[in-house]
Amino acid sequence: MAKEVSIAPAHGKLGILIPGMGAVTSTFIAGVEAVKRGLGAPIGSLTQLGTIRLGKRTEGRTPKIKEFVPLTSLECLAFGGWDIYEDNAYEAATRAKVLEQTLLDQLKEPLSAIRPMKAVFDHDYVRKIDGPNVKQGSNKMELAEAVMQDIRDFAQKNGCNRLVMIWCGSTEVFHKSAAVHQSVEAFEEGLRRSDPEISPSQIYAYAALKLRVPFANGAPNLTTDIPAMLELARRNEVAICGKDFKTGQTYMKTLLAPGFKARMLGVQGWFSTNILGNRDGEVLEDPGSFKTKEETKLSVLQQILQPELYPELYKDLYHAVRINYYPPRGDAKEGWDNIDIFGWLGYPMQIKIDFLCRDSILAAPLVLDLVLFLDLAQRAGMKGIQEWLSFYFKGPMTAPGLYPEHDIFIQLMKLKNTLRWMKGEDLITHLGLEYYD
Ligand SMILES: NC(=O)c1ccc[n+]([C@@H]2O[C@H](COP(=O)([O-])OP(=O)(O)OC[C@H]3O[C@@H](n4cnc5c(N)ncnc54)[C@H](O)[C@@H]3O)[C@@H](O)[C@H]2O)c1
Repeated sequence: MAKEVSIAPAHGKLGILIPGMGAVTSTFIAGVEAVKRGLGAPIGSLTQLGTIRLGKRTEGRTPKIKEFVPLTSLECLAFGGWDIYEDNAYEAATRAKVLEQTLLDQLKEPLSAIRPMKAVFDHDYVRKIDGPNVKQGSNKMELAEAVMQDIRDFAQKNGCNRLVMIWCGSTEVFHKSAAVHQSVEAFEEGLRRSDPEISPSQIYAYAALKLRVPFANGAPNLTTDIPAMLELARRNEVAICGKDFKTGQTYMKTLLAPGFKARMLGVQGWFSTNILGNRDGEVLEDPGSFKTKEETKLSVLQQILQPELYPELYKDLYHAVRINYYPPRGDAKEGWDNIDIFGWLGYPMQIKIDFLCRDSILAAPLVLDLVLFLDLAQRAGMKGIQEWLSFYFKGPMTAPGLYPEHDIFIQLMKLKNTLRWMKGEDLITHLGLEYYD
């Protein structure tokens, strides 16, 4: 067995700080409170339900993940957040209409106590919405400092000795990395002169990293995918990961595409369309925000199918993704996929998927796993990009120059091997020759 990584114990309270208290956030917080009271089960959460095999298949050692590595228990979480609307978590959950009102009413007390702090907001980055609960400052550095003060106040008020921040705010308009993003110094100078290329999500992320609070990005925004943030994360020894939760249609894609490639089946076309009626759908109606989403959604197939290695199977793949805002459906999204594949001698076949899913029900357990694992990584002294958490994202962050791994089964193996490595257990390679000696 290898040496164990030294992991600080999960003593005391872990504060979860969330910019954006909409459907995903309120479903996440209400879910944790429901599980704590025995009103529901944490379905979809690897940290709560998953197991991990250790050693040889003959050893019969398969503990639960939460018993194998020292994760914070649900009883020790405290929640806080920011939003441009003044709704507390109970009102936000009621408005989102994801969970049944009878359940929410049983959780009214803890949920009503979570009131959003004033947001850092810029209408040029999210054009479809506007709200009153917004910070004022003479420049972006002042706003970043105000967020840092919020974080300190929250930690003190709630008696937290550790914090994690996870962006569950709206998808921002598509921006490429600019000159102001190239170093920490350029970024700080840009904050002082309110450079328009610095987005609100980057102001929150900067505030978190400055205070050594690990940061996860649940939306496809550029946020931490810039040299300045990577440098700051490494300098301050903070764990970061992103981006864009892999929940519905893209999750399905990363299940199926590795299967086609494994069997050397060709794919000629993949047309994906969605209708959804929540606020996220409304924001994504804006072409600027949709473009940000489209980038992470489209990148997945190219990376998995590797047309440069298999031109006869995937060179001409036509891939399109559409999202339509359709209010009657609310959070209960419908995603259709038409997949044109071909087999032996090029004979064509078709697959149709109609996924009647629930966006926030799929996202909430991912938020839980991410905050618990990020806190674990931070306590284990792991800094910078946490590629082992790619499992949760449509557009996994990787070291510069390294292509992301999108195959969900490789991602899961990487995640579990990272946990084994932390605890000094043998990594599992699936070679298994020893069983036949
Ligand atoms: N399955 C999923 O639900 C899923 C999957 C992948 C990614 N996401 C992303 O997660 C995010 C949240 O999704 P949702 O369904 O909860 O959306 P939502 O619209 O219900 O909630 C987002 C909230 O963020 C707030 N907000 C926007 N800008 C802000 C800012 N600068 N500071 C503070 N608050 C701000 C909005 O007012 C809103 O209340 C979206 O970006 C979405 O694209 C969701």
